[in-house]
Amino acid sequence: MRSKTRLGHPSLVTRHWFSMAEKTLVILISGRGSNMEALLDARLPARVAAVISNNPQAKGLATAQQRGIATAVVDHHAFPDRAAFDAALAAEIDRHRPDLVALAGFMRVLTEPFIERYRGRLMNIHPSLLPAFPGLDTHRRALAAGARVHGCTVHFVTPAVDSGPIILQASVPVPPGDTEERLAARVLVEEHRIYPLAVRWFVEGKLKLEDGRVVIDEACRQPDAVIPLRGRP
Ligand code: GRF
Repeated sequence: MRSKTRLGHPSLVTRHWFSMAEKTLVILISGRGSNMEALLDARLPARVAAVISNNPQAKGLATAQQRGIATAVVDHHAFPDRAAFDAALAAEIDRHRPDLVALAGFMRVLTEPFIERYRGRLMNIHPSLLPAFPGLDTHRRALAAGARVHGCTVHFVTPAVDSGPIILQASVPVPPGDTEERLAARVLVEEHRIYPLAVRWFVEGKLKLEDGRVVIDEACRQPDAVIPLRGRP
């Protein structure tokens, strides 16, 4: 039944329409795609318009297709340099006009023009507590350094690799005798928890990058909103 309020106050209807406008997400992957799956499983209030990979063999492509998500491959081998690859990747992304581009195990270094193009709407998950251990082999390096605590970071992407304003982090203990495999698995559980949460805040309009700093709604900072992240084994 149509409510009188909706018929009688079109301005309210309009405001409601805008605030509820569905956000569009593009996810970039290079391999397994478990973080991509975590984003898909999270039932975010957003439409995942496409999953794009630089690697035609990426396992995550099949997973996305099985879930009815459009996929595309922009194979970096087909381009003479990073600039040409990034331009082709941007063209593929822009077809979908995304509000957010989520790097989910995307293993290419991106050029500055690409990163600037998506400033404030390009997010990454990195398997360490940044700024410790940027780059590759983070779990092995954390063990070699004798780190007692390790973890993962969601951040907005800026031109320096694995740098950029930090949105969320989750930590795991590193017990004596830990192995790279066990540590990676423990961190991955946390990745799958914090990445969907950060993306949810973004698409719900509770998180933004402003003057190079992360701004998160006060409500997301309440202890109740954070404790469940860290409290589970
Ligand atoms: C994750 O640990 C991610 O943080 C890192 O690469 C791994 C990719 O895993 N950048 P998946 O493809 O999301 O399963």
